[in-house]
Amino acid sequence: MAMTALPTEVGIEPAARLRGELALPGDKSISHRALMLALLAEGATRITGAGDGADVRSTAGIVEALGADVERVRRPDGNVEYVVRSHGAGSMRQPRGPLDCGNSGTSLRLFSGILAGQAMIVTLDGDGSLRSRPMARLIEPLRAMGADVDGGDGVRPPLRIAGRRPLDGIDWTTRVASAQVKSAILLAGLAAEGTTIVREPVATRDHTERMLRARGVAVRSDRGADGANIVELGGPATVRAVDQVVPGDPSAAAFWLVAAAIHPDAEITLRSVGVNPTRRAVIDLLRRMGASIEERGAPDDGVGEPIADLTVRASDLEAIELSPADTATAIDEIPILCLAATRARGTTTIHAAGELRHKESDRIAGIVDGLTALGATISADGDDIVIEGPTELHGATVDSLGDHRLALTFAIAGLVATGRTSVRGADSVAISYPTFFADLERIRA
Ligand code: S3P
Repeated sequence: MAMTALPTEVGIEPAARLRGELALPGDKSISHRALMLALLAEGATRITGAGDGADVRSTAGIVEALGADVERVRRPDGNVEYVVRSHGAGSMRQPRGPLDCGNSGTSLRLFSGILAGQAMIVTLDGDGSLRSRPMARLIEPLRAMGADVDGGDGVRPPLRIAGRRPLDGIDWTTRVASAQVKSAILLAGLAAEGTTIVREPVATRDHTERMLRARGVAVRSDRGADGANIVELGGPATVRAVDQVVPGDPSAAAFWLVAAAIHPDAEITLRSVGVNPTRRAVIDLLRRMGASIEERGAPDDGVGEPIADLTVRASDLEAIELSPADTATAIDEIPILCLAATRARGTTTIHAAGELRHKESDRIAGIVDGLTALGATISADGDDIVIEGPTELHGATVDSLGDHRLALTFAIAGLVATGRTSVRGADSVAISYPTFFADLERIRA
């Protein structure tokens, strides 16, 4: 499963114009979940259009280590067709060593939920970035359900999980809006006796709920009086093997939406992008800024998620204010939205972005330092990010901190900056978007 090696530092020259059509990597969140649910289901699952980033590969490797047969075929568009054959949740194999999640928080957190309900002892580990990420938010509910979970230093990976079957259902309110924590609790809930309820302050991405329903598990979602999102499932529950078509990743689309919106001569069409209401915030926020984004809905076609073709054109942008809820629902797109804000007229304030300090890097520090080096006026004010625009960007050497979303953002900045922009740690794009630099060359041609 070798990846084409990308250079660690890439130089980007400004583009005279941006034109073309792209098919994007398969949605990362949905690809992870499709592989995991295929492991839990007895029988064969075909997954079409899965992303081939290193994170999804980590999940596929763990599914295999836990006893499923995983067949993969890479398609010419860079996505993968998987066929997973499993004996189901009751027949997982004790892995021989620690399970390597690499850089992937989604793999580590969602597998923790799955393994909490397995009667075996397993260690989940990852790279230096993953080992620095907070896990108390996950350890606490899984312990409350009856699993024995411990972090290396109490709260960080590696996580040692001594699972139990059945677990106890719980009624849990998450402190931070996190789809990963919600999903881990719901996946543990499949192996629990009784009802499991997750209450979250803002509705985070709901792929786990949709995909469980499609696989025969009754999952209810409701709005609380205070606007909280309440998700409930009854356990124990069996997941059926159901084929999955994976839509294009809206978080990958975001880079091109911003590229075209901030470039003076641009028109880019993105095919079959997932526009799930809990993922599409970046489209709506860019439109609020004045971006010209045309959206043509496409039939669901077995995806189980709304999809659309998007065409985005050069636009005049205005500053906006992102509320804490806006920030939470566009959490992965905040770095690229910061770039858009450097080209927008006025002061953009992104409120309550503190969670960004706990992603693959400290993304607040990374985006402020990188965009400042490129000539932007951007600062952090506590957990808020404030950007004054419009500013002309000029090429410089910027450090992605080995974080894919920062590397992708700085590469897009290089298309509009004057002179050459050098992105350090550019190989990290392979985490979510391994074909990015090839797409970039096509779009600037
Ligand atoms: C993800 C949830 C988000 C997001 C991550 C993918 C998921 O993390 O940042 O890239 O697939 O559930 P949190 O749930 O921790 O915010």
